[in-house]
Amino acid sequence: MSPETMSIFTPKVSARFDALVEKYPVRRSALVPMLLYAQDEIGYLSDAVIAEVAQRIGITELDVRNVATYYSMLRFKPAGKFNVQVCTNISCMLRGAYEVYEKFQEELGIGHKGVTADGVFSLEEVECIGACCWAPAIQVNYNFHDDLTPESVPGILAEYRGKAEGR
Ligand code: FES
Repeated sequence: MSPETMSIFTPKVSARFDALVEKYPVRRSALVPMLLYAQDEIGYLSDAVIAEVAQRIGITELDVRNVATYYSMLRFKPAGKFNVQVCTNISCMLRGAYEVYEKFQEELGIGHKGVTADGVFSLEEVECIGACCWAPAIQVNYNFHDDLTPESVPGILAEYRGKAEGR
């Protein structure tokens, strides 16, 4: 992106995007990594994110949306400050993931893809997160919690509530 063009991203992420599009033989190959970095920075794929990514790669916004809607980890609405992803795939399911997931729903008062009224938490049921050996497992933003029971849930939520309040 030329220096005179305004970017919605921080200079650090903007520079990363400039490097990414040059890294692949085909610019379009940078699309998914760019969307993941963009989501990390902005929180979700807003219209402005999609427009800038499309422009940087040289494809249409519709092309970007067509790819982005395929990936369940990409979102088009803001998530909570802490996004709780509960794996209910086979290993976790066999070790009580649904009981854990139900406890999160009960404690937070939201369901799949819901966001709490205070914006602190969002909740998602997801496929395998690669922690099968320690099932059942969840991911909160980039932190893993494993070997869970429904009884673990209030403590985990208290930990993140404390962080949200700066404790
Ligand atoms: S099945 Fe849950 S982490 Fe793999």
